[in-house]
Amino acid sequence: MKLKATQKNINTCQADQVFISHYKDQEKNDMVEQLGADIQAQFAARLKNQDFIGKSGEFVDFYNTDGQIITVIGLGSPDKLTATALYAAVHKATQTAAKTRVQSIANYMTLNDLGDIDAAQGAKLITLASAHAEYRYEDTKSYKKDNKHSLKTIEIAVSDKQQPAFEQAKGMAAGIVSARHLGNNPPNICNPAYIAKYATKIADKHKDCEINVLNHKQMKKMGMGALLAVGQGSANKPKMVVLKYNGGKKDDAPVALVGKGITFDTGGISLKPGANMDEMKYDMCGAATVIGGFVAAVELGLPINLLTFVPAVENMPDGKAYRPGDVITSYSGKTIEVLNTDAEGRMILCDTLTYAQEFKPSVILDFATLTGACIVALGHQASAVMTKTPELADELKEAGLQVHDRVWELPLWDEYQKQLDTSFADMQNIGGFPAGTITAGCFLSRFTDGQKWAHVDIAGTAWNNKKDGATGRPVAMLVQYLINESQK
Ligand code: BES
Ligand code: MN
Ligand code: ZN
Repeated sequence: MKLKATQKNINTCQADQVFISHYKDQEKNDMVEQLGADIQAQFAARLKNQDFIGKSGEFVDFYNTDGQIITVIGLGSPDKLTATALYAAVHKATQTAAKTRVQSIANYMTLNDLGDIDAAQGAKLITLASAHAEYRYEDTKSYKKDNKHSLKTIEIAVSDKQQPAFEQAKGMAAGIVSARHLGNNPPNICNPAYIAKYATKIADKHKDCEINVLNHKQMKKMGMGALLAVGQGSANKPKMVVLKYNGGKKDDAPVALVGKGITFDTGGISLKPGANMDEMKYDMCGAATVIGGFVAAVELGLPINLLTFVPAVENMPDGKAYRPGDVITSYSGKTIEVLNTDAEGRMILCDTLTYAQEFKPSVILDFATLTGACIVALGHQASAVMTKTPELADELKEAGLQVHDRVWELPLWDEYQKQLDTSFADMQNIGGFPAGTITAGCFLSRFTDGQKWAHVDIAGTAWNNKKDGATGRPVAMLVQYLINESQK
């Protein structure tokens, strides 16, 4: 599907289906007035009969004599309009249209009159919601021809002033598609070698990109004991993927991204229960986030240097697997007592965080489906951010608000650290029941001393449920953060 901006007047628009918006109790609708007398009369009749009142999320179709569909989308009362409601309304209407045989949609919803949402942000939200709704996973379906996705283009009507916001959202959408592709593909396909190959293709396509993939032998030589311990029970050998984008000045310190890439998490010897274990194919969504973020940054040509680290590892039970009780020496030299092999994300991340610091980044952001406890704390609405740099938490929260991909901060107070104490190593890999998301963050913080760093737990946001699959969150938030950084 192609996303395009359009500045055409609505009455010259050729799209199969056209979206316009209407508020509850709105008297005059400029867009309707530009359409033919026939549509105007039909719309007036609907309002009069009160079978369309412009309630938020409500929508109604009219047909032009040439077959074009005009969809009026209700936005409720302007003073109560939220980013959530706008996003949901666009998503619902677009998803409904995408299930029909229309080939093109043009979105002429109002941008200049969105309550607290300014026109640029509105353009961004509408673009992101449209792209999100249009996405369909087809990689492993053997569709018959009749079931092929028909929608080919979505145009968003924006003025010159909102064009940059549209372009940014379009770049984000490209990254989101990559992230959803990686997340949704099954674990027998999307394994560590697949992720390495996928990243290599990205690097090969763009001139400012480089890639380096470390194999398990190289990592063994380097001493990445914690990462390798997790992978040692799997026939699919671990890979460390390092993507580099040189968009900034030669001497600019890079932004480093780290993403948990557990391509399947059985729990290992501390085996997970069977119910919903299939969902642990999404345990590489941190990796998908940073690869998606990388794709977007490159597409947008952001003037920054970016380094993306993906430890890609499978966590399996096996005769060779690591076990509870093992004491492992990490790449940093610190020792870890493994009390639960299902707390594997932090094991691969700690070595990657140590490695990333060798490249002297200005900041490191890591993304991980790290703890089930995060879903208990924040549900599916917000990703959790933890950092010792309060401004960084604020910047990530702000970026999330700008693109409706929100994060919420949890504290990394020192008092939580003692939950990781053990008699047999420098630390243990679990912190017990209380504050499970925070103690996972505390574990990582022990490997980022003196480094500006934030950890983002995306266990509740990276995928929705079995049916909707990977959400591509929080790629939009990440890319907005990178855009904001690049404009500083
Ligand atoms: N990948 C899981 C976390 C997870 C579980 C995310 C369910 C989303 C849904 C992670 O590797 C894990 O198993 N974490 C354990 C940690 C515990 C052993 C300290 C958890 O959350 O139970
Ligand atoms: Mn686990
Ligand atoms: Zn996991």
